Amino acid sequence: VVVVIVVPPPPCSSSPFLSGSEFSRADFPPDFVFGAGTSAYQVEGAADEDGKGPSIWDTFTHEGKMNDGSTADVTADSYHHYKEDVKFMSEIGLEGYRFSISWARLLPNGRGAINQKGVEYYNNLIDELVKHGIQPHATLYHLDLPQVLQDEYGGWLSPKIIDDFLAYANICFQEFGDRISHWTTLNEPNIFTLGSYDQGILPPNRCSYPFGLRKCTSGNSTVEPYIAMHNIVLAHASVVELYRTKYQATQKGFIGYSTLLLAFHYLLCVLQVHFLFRLLILIHLTINGRVLNPLLFGDYPENMKKIARSKIPSFTESQSKQLKGSIDFLGINHYSSLYASDNPKTDQTGVNNFYGDMSASLLGCPYMLSLLYLGGRLLRWKEIHPLVPDSLPIDSAGLESFLLCLKSKYGNLPIYIHENGLLSISILGALLSAIRNGSNARGYFVWSFLDVFEILTGFQVRYGLYYVDFDDENRRR
Ligand code: NOJ
Repeated sequence: VVVVIVVPPPPCSSSPFLSGSEFSRADFPPDFVFGAGTSAYQVEGAADEDGKGPSIWDTFTHEGKMNDGSTADVTADSYHHYKEDVKFMSEIGLEGYRFSISWARLLPNGRGAINQKGVEYYNNLIDELVKHGIQPHATLYHLDLPQVLQDEYGGWLSPKIIDDFLAYANICFQEFGDRISHWTTLNEPNIFTLGSYDQGILPPNRCSYPFGLRKCTSGNSTVEPYIAMHNIVLAHASVVELYRTKYQATQKGFIGYSTLLLAFHYLLCVLQVHFLFRLLILIHLTINGRVLNPLLFGDYPENMKKIARSKIPSFTESQSKQLKGSIDFLGINHYSSLYASDNPKTDQTGVNNFYGDMSASLLGCPYMLSLLYLGGRLLRWKEIHPLVPDSLPIDSAGLESFLLCLKSKYGNLPIYIHENGLLSISILGALLSAIRNGSNARGYFVWSFLDVFEILTGFQVRYGLYYVDFDDENRRR
């Protein structure tokens, strides 16, 4: 007897977006925060001024690794223009500013002696924000490791980083915590572990492939992304424990973590969209079980452990305890969506299963898809580009869908959209509609407040709400 189990295709459904005329600020909860963001290396400039030490980004750009040959030695020069910047923020009504602290500006040697000029700069910036009624949301780590820690023990590849990150975070809490409403431990580890240790396109630029978007130094792409991720989540958890036990009761802030989330559109639906004019869409998430599961449940997803087998280190019982529930909120960076279809061969995605493992994280949301198109190199993405209808890059449907999916899978934790690369009314409509359907979204930050050095393209792409003339650092709306 042959039993055939037929799994029905996912129902495609369209999302009735609210248009711009259908809502206003007053429709969002009063304590919902609208803001914009930047990061230290990308916006500050003053790369070796006032005692700042070099970070891995300084090394990377000075070695000429950017395609346009750029560095962020000066970039928007917010180190000198912060007052003007905060005035501009206030003029356009921003309620929050998401910025990051440069570890190498505060601790030029990665640990030990504090650079008082660095403390002064962040105190001034934070005071200026508070003076203008703008909530300071600070990120401790946005891709810019002090070079000295990379040289000494390989940065995130060594568990030694955990104590150094903890000591650095402690200084930040001590010096600035009385005014910071929201702390984010790390920005987008799910992306930088790949960019830094798999593709080698971000510093410290390691990969083990003979090809790549940028020339890499030799690493081990099959293993290093896992090891880095492991140390990252442990470093995160110990910093959160420190904040909660020593500072939170008096400083009354919240602490969380930022991650890039992509929505996945079911390929068949996309085809219908493409050929039958936006018939129906079903969205799927997400690439983040390997990050979210440890932070919320204390371990990697079972499926991921099965696929990656010996490459993923295990958590001890006490680590797992420390990890579990280690975020007060989740920051989401959302730019666009990808297209995927069922991939029965998830276990055999080839040289590197890191992308393949992401499929493990899809378990738990309906009609989970494996990452046929994400199953290997960036190159494969090209295969699906022709399927992307021109109208979809600003993907409101994706945003709404994964907000609702996060609600059903991860217990409706508070969410901040920490980055969104193009402010559009349809995105805000999707956000509002998700909130009305029960999502716990608490804030929305545009990337970026002004034009900055962009991590993949240098100065060839502009995201800013304000235009910056990089010849004289003048800002224009
Ligand atoms: C992700 C990163 O957090 C940010 O540094 C970058 O500039 C934007 N996305 C755009 O690529």
